[in-house]
Amino acid sequence: VGQNLVTIKEVDSTNSFLKTLLSNSKPVPEGTVIMAESQYAGRGQQQNKWHSEPGKNLTFSILLTPTFLPVSQQFDLTRVISLGVYEALRPILGDELKIKWPNDIYFADRKLGGILIETHLQGTRIKDAIIGIGLNINQEHFEAGAGNAISVKQILHKDYDLRALLSEICGNIEAYYLQLKAGKHLLVRNTYLTRLYWLNQQRAFRSNGVVFNGTIINVKDEGLLVVDNNSGLQEFSLKQI
Ligand code: BTN
Repeated sequence: VGQNLVTIKEVDSTNSFLKTLLSNSKPVPEGTVIMAESQYAGRGQQQNKWHSEPGKNLTFSILLTPTFLPVSQQFDLTRVISLGVYEALRPILGDELKIKWPNDIYFADRKLGGILIETHLQGTRIKDAIIGIGLNINQEHFEAGAGNAISVKQILHKDYDLRALLSEICGNIEAYYLQLKAGKHLLVRNTYLTRLYWLNQQRAFRSNGVVFNGTIINVKDEGLLVVDNNSGLQEFSLKQI
């Protein structure tokens, strides 16, 4: 991952760029990374926009072709990517770094980065996956609308080398990806669980406007969040919680 690295000054979205590249007939090697200094139409999950100050942060997309992975196990790819990003940042940021289900990167209760995976399927298999990663690194100020965003610089008070971090992330993603490819689903699933924000901790949840107390106790193989609401177990998809 990252051997074939294309850097662009400005693009609408690295995910969209990679998607277009794939639809042109020339083959794109697995592990290709498209990195942009600036995106003018960066996309987030659930139709959100992704804002990032030009030149300050990491905004890139990776092409993987996990044809060995059945669609029903797609969430293992989410785990692999989250863990790869997590492990690269962990030595710099320490204990307060967490993965917030399903694939946000959090420092304490603030969002450091996010992941947007877009897959093309072929029958019951995944043909290719465009994996977009946005991480706040050297940005110092966020708009009020950015909610609970935080950057590495706001935590450590110094600039961080984007290229060095990119290569660290790519190396870690590759390592977890190869574990998955070798059939070590359980290892990937268990490790993901141990890094999860709020695991086994009582907190308030909101689902369809209803607030209740509960504890995250598991993430199912297919990615559903399992919450113990003190009178039973409830499963949630991202749209429901
Ligand atoms: C989220 O948390 O909602 C996911 C954010 C993903 C942002 C990255 S930046 C690089 C890639 N290109 C995009 O347009 N989006 C992803």
